[in-house]
Order: sequence, then structure tokens, then C-alpha cells
Amino acid sequence: MQWGLKNRLSGIIKPETGRTLMLALDHGYFLGPTTRLEDPKKTITPLLPYADAIMLTRGILRNCISPDVNTKVVLRVSGGSSIIGKDLSNEAIITSLKDAVRLNASAVALSIFVGSEYEHQTLVNLAKLVDEAEEYGIPVLAVTAVGKELEKREAKYLALSSRIAAEFGAHFVKTYYCEGFEKVVEGCPVPIVVAGGPKMNTEFEVFELTYRAIQEGAVGVDMGRNIWQAEYPVAMIRALRSIIHENKTPKEALELFNEIKNKG
Ligand code: R5P
Repeated sequence: MQWGLKNRLSGIIKPETGRTLMLALDHGYFLGPTTRLEDPKKTITPLLPYADAIMLTRGILRNCISPDVNTKVVLRVSGGSSIIGKDLSNEAIITSLKDAVRLNASAVALSIFVGSEYEHQTLVNLAKLVDEAEEYGIPVLAVTAVGKELEKREAKYLALSSRIAAEFGAHFVKTYYCEGFEKVVEGCPVPIVVAGGPKMNTEFEVFELTYRAIQEGAVGVDMGRNIWQAEYPVAMIRALRSIIHENKTPKEALELFNEIKNKG
């Protein structure tokens, strides 16, 4: 692996622990002003010190994040469909690699939609992006998106998507935690981070998902709604950090969460 690419990836997946806490806030690229992300700056600023990286579009980066931020940037560069459009999988590259370099991105992210109508198009997007990003030494995160078809969140499908992403040259992969997650990890030769999905009922469920994903081989999370839609987002992200970087159990994370929450 080239030095620059490895160096950028090390900024995201921390060499001290081999893990990462990525904060996803790219939802608006197809969902518009998602609940609690209507004013991204207000929601995200208190969380930034606790995230290793933020995943977002250039519009939100330029307008809502101060350029003196210490947190690494994973720039979403695919899009082109909305939640009210015909098909979420109809994506293209929407941001150039030159702009990613100008914005000092540590990685670029793109979605692939395996099994969808636009499977071929999104996979070719990935292949082309890897070719171009490697010229600049920028790692590529492939997001194994499932669009509206959430029933596809099963090991067989996620293993297929994640493996294809790695075969096409993605340097790390974002997928979902699922039953039989070890199979997804086993078949994917590059690091995997998991999304959180829709907001869960309790904090403990989020801690459990994160803990299990890590135990079963994920290098961390790229989580959004379960952090910034939480009632106590700072307590939430700090507790998740303790699982990811300090090997705390869900029970210990909940204790830390309550401690931080009660301190206000
Ligand atoms: C989906 O394509 C986006 O990349 C989101 O960033 C992703 O779903 C992670 O966010 P959440 O934890 O809210 O599911």
C-alpha cells in the first residue's frame, strides 16, 4: 500500500487500537433535513472531539464544519437519487477527487447497491473511483447500501456485497451488523465498519450491537442516528468510544453513559 494512502487510513483506523469511531452525518444527501440533523453544525459540534472521523458531503463540510477541525474527514462522493425518487440505487460520482484533495479528505466514500437495478453502474463507479483515488493516495470506503429493501440485512447478502466491494479494490467497507456477522468478516479481506441503522429503543441495544460487531471482527462503527438522535448524544458517543477503543463491555459502557448523563 502506498505511504500516503496508508497514512490517511491510519488517521481514521487508529493504529493504537486498530479501531475507529466514525460519525456518519451524510444522511441529507438523499433524505434532506433528517430529524436532529436539520442544523448539522449545532448537532455535530459537541460530538466532534469524540469522533475519529466524520463522514459527510462536501456541502455540509464546507458550511457546517470549521476548517480548523482535528477530526478526519471521510467525504461522500456518490449520490444522485432521493428518498422520493424512483430508485435510490441510481447513483453516480458527485464530487471529484480534485475537490476531495482540496478539502483534505482522508478517504472518500461511495455506495454500492448489489442486487439492485443499478448494481452494474454502482460497481463500475467503485472501480473507477478506486483507480482515481489511488492516484492521489486516498483510501476508498465502499458502503454496502441496501436502499429501501431493509430485509436484505442478512449475512449472506452482506457477505456478498462486502466481498465484491473488496474485490473491486475498496480499502475498507461499511456494512450492517447481522446474525452470522463473522461470515461477513471472514469473507472480506479489508477492514469493516458497521452502520447503526435506525434509532434503537435503548442505549444498551446500541452498546450491544457495537460490542458484538467488534468482538466478531469489525474495526469499529460508522454510526449516525443512534448517536445524534439520542437524548444524550455526548454521553452516547463517549460510551461508544469506551467500547471501541478501551474494550469496555455494554454494561460498563452503560455505567459510563449514566455517569456522564447525570453530570449534565
Ligand atoms: C447511508 O448510506 C449513509 O451512509 C449513513 O451514513 C449510514 O446509514 C450510517 O448511518 P446510521 O448509523 O444512521 O445508519
